[in-house]
Amino acid sequence: MTDSKIYQASTTAPVNIAVVKYWGKRDAKLNLPTNSSVSVTLSQKDLRTHTTAACSAAFPSEDTLLLNGSPQDVSGARTQACFRELRALRSALEAQDSSLPKLAALPLRIVSENNFPTAAGLASSAAGFAALVRAIANLYELPSSPTDLSRIARQGSGSACRSLFGGYVAWQMGNEVDGSDSVAVEVAPASHWPTMRALILVVSAEKKGVSSTSGMQITVATSELFQRRAEVVVPKHMELMEKAIKEKDFETFAKVTMMESNSFHATCLDTYPPIFYLNDVSRAAIRAVEDINAAAGKTIAAYTFDAGPNAVIYFEEKDLDAVAGPLKSALSGLDGWQAAEREIKVQGLDKVDER
Ligand code: ADP
Ligand code: DP6
Ligand code: CO
Repeated sequence: MTDSKIYQASTTAPVNIAVVKYWGKRDAKLNLPTNSSVSVTLSQKDLRTHTTAACSAAFPSEDTLLLNGSPQDVSGARTQACFRELRALRSALEAQDSSLPKLAALPLRIVSENNFPTAAGLASSAAGFAALVRAIANLYELPSSPTDLSRIARQGSGSACRSLFGGYVAWQMGNEVDGSDSVAVEVAPASHWPTMRALILVVSAEKKGVSSTSGMQITVATSELFQRRAEVVVPKHMELMEKAIKEKDFETFAKVTMMESNSFHATCLDTYPPIFYLNDVSRAAIRAVEDINAAAGKTIAAYTFDAGPNAVIYFEEKDLDAVAGPLKSALSGLDGWQAAEREIKVQGLDKVDER
């Protein structure tokens, strides 16, 4: 008789918003980047992915993934790579201990929910693949470290490797051809600089026209500006950013964050055909932040945009009133502005596994 028991585990994962941006792959198959990157992991209080992974001999034989209620194609190489690596680790455990149930051979059923816009430049692929990998690792009871899981999640979506850690996180591009050293590492825990805040301006919740994956491939193929960015600009920004985080130097953190965002979007414009992720409201947000900093006489706010029009504004808690009020009044009259801004407290990764 076939065992029809359902094994299952759930987890949540946060989004992370890069302050030194990943944009470009040196190996599309292994999802290895052309440059290192740094991000801040945002609180799961407002933005998070919740994912349940289940397996059973009673399930139909194909693996399935339901995202916000819609069936997703899991045959893509990137999702397959995550499934394959996690199954291999489970198989190794089962080979060592014959009393373990044979879960690696069973079909997987993944159910995931994002409580924020998907594919709109708010890092849904980051939270999504971090949650997917950790949910399956929990289901399989793998002893893997966050770094080990980051190596797997990277293959699902590059930015996902950084969502396995809380606080301030670097993705080291690595040198190995097999990608074994292309993993996320903690730069500093959230508690090191707990006054950091991020304000999310949801300018548009619509799915972007050009996905991050295809956008960066066209950039690598066509932009010469991109070469200089990867070879000269990003290495300099990486060094400045890691130092600014260690020293809690907001002015440098902010300046590098804004110049990084601008450099990334400049390479998008230099891509042929050009990619436009920013819109008029995004540009108004940039001007509003410049005005806020000018009025303060120092840099108290930093804007950054991923591959979409939605703004993330970093600032320190003490400057909340000087940042949030003026920003809202500068933007609230504009078309496309949704009063959906949220104050997000930066914090570490909660342990929320409900096995
Ligand atoms: P974003 O800016 O939101 O990260 P991307 O273009 O990088 O946008 O990736 C969006 C894609 O990531 C989605 O179309 C979907 O394939 C995948 N994705 C998003 N959320 C999840 C999730 N919770 N689980 C699995 N895959 C997800
Ligand atoms: C602009 O990680 O979504 O947000 O690896 O192809 O899934 P894939 O791309 P993805 O790219 C993120 C790009 C970015 C910058 C960043 O998060 O570092
Ligand atoms: Co993404």
